Amino acid sequence: MTTVVPPRSTGKNRITEQQRVAHEGLVADLRERVPGRPMPGHFYTDPSVFDADLDLIFGRQWFFATTEAEVAEAGDYVTIDVGTRSIIVIRSDDEVVRAFHNVCRHRGARVLTEPAGFVGNLVCSYHSWTYGTDGALRHAPNLPEGEDPACLGLRKVSIRVIAGLVFLCLAAEPPADIDDFAERLTPYLAPHNLAGAKVASQVDIIESGNWKLVMENNRECYHCDGHPELSASFFPTYGLATQDVPASLRAAHDQFLLAEADLAVRCDELGLPKEVQEDLVEPNVAYRFGREALDGAGESFSLSGRVLVTKSLADLGETRLGRLTIHSQPNIWVHVMSDHAVVFTALPLSPDRTLVRTTWLVNADAVEGTHYQLDDLTYVWTETNTQDSVFVARTHAGVTDPAYLPGPYTAAEYQVDNFLSWYVDRMLEGCGESTGQGEGASEATA
Ligand code: FES
Ligand SMILES: [Fe+2]
Repeated sequence: MTTVVPPRSTGKNRITEQQRVAHEGLVADLRERVPGRPMPGHFYTDPSVFDADLDLIFGRQWFFATTEAEVAEAGDYVTIDVGTRSIIVIRSDDEVVRAFHNVCRHRGARVLTEPAGFVGNLVCSYHSWTYGTDGALRHAPNLPEGEDPACLGLRKVSIRVIAGLVFLCLAAEPPADIDDFAERLTPYLAPHNLAGAKVASQVDIIESGNWKLVMENNRECYHCDGHPELSASFFPTYGLATQDVPASLRAAHDQFLLAEADLAVRCDELGLPKEVQEDLVEPNVAYRFGREALDGAGESFSLSGRVLVTKSLADLGETRLGRLTIHSQPNIWVHVMSDHAVVFTALPLSPDRTLVRTTWLVNADAVEGTHYQLDDLTYVWTETNTQDSVFVARTHAGVTDPAYLPGPYTAAEYQVDNFLSWYVDRMLEGCGESTGQGEGASEATA
């Protein structure tokens, strides 16, 4: 039986009658989605669906923007583009990380035009209106008498920093369950001191596919045969419950279970939480995180499984900690090992283009050439990203073909199914509709 859940987006986020009518066709299409299968092709290719994704997902939900390490010092900033929006994330002079719309309060020019940098004040280059790092208007030449500068500061964007990860929300009334996510995640992530880390490398690639295909691709290891470098340390039975492991992978799974038991003992001794926590459909801030074993030496994403950075991210007294894996919808996945972290984010550019940003974080005192070699540090995920971008491009081309019909997900792809159930429900809620995809969502049985 399908339980109808009343819409949660009420109050300030309520939609207008005009918006409701505009989304009528979309609502009908969303209701036709078959759980256990991908979306119909136009959900990945249609510009009107893409616009709705920007409006109802990236315009309503919390999404990942940047790491605290990228705005380490007061005055450091990054600009994040989402559709036609640009947002400034900056560490203010009082050390608080804040976010503002990158839109001048005079005539609307972009205030900052670089993707990242350092400023003393934020100066609009058009007519020199000058804002402090707290967003307040400090100076506007010849401002008419009677205009109050206090009412002309940069417009704020809701921001939440969780143990070094910076999330934003563009909604008038951001989903409150970010509190629950923060409370659950912080004990896992905070011991690694990401907030005090530094960026060793950041690489942007533009994948030729819809943002949902990028997210779907990273939610399963059914395709891990296509990642020979990653497979040296990543167990290929990821996402599979023991009873679903095929005969060809049983030996690898037995090895995984042994490594997991071993890791559990070490985590207990160190007081580090390990257990996987997962709620991928119901919450607005849907998540999966936990500590999972790596193959080989069990330390890091290297071909041997050994650490790639000889100075640990934090002094935890142990390097064999596998990976703390974190995924949150709509757009982030992370691996944190004892020696470094890799943070991935997907930002939609157009129906068929997605920016995938990969950031490698290391201890702020780690020295390139002494504690790590950059090419070695980035090797496995550079190769893996390249392979994944090919998979995404091929899939996007295929779902654009009129011959495409959504096929069945396998057991290893339950997280992909859950992601789409979450997507459909959040889209329906954004349209002011009742939801119900979560009822049919598949679950991990491990
Ligand atoms: S638009 Fe920014 S100062 Fe005029
Ligand atoms: Fe992959």
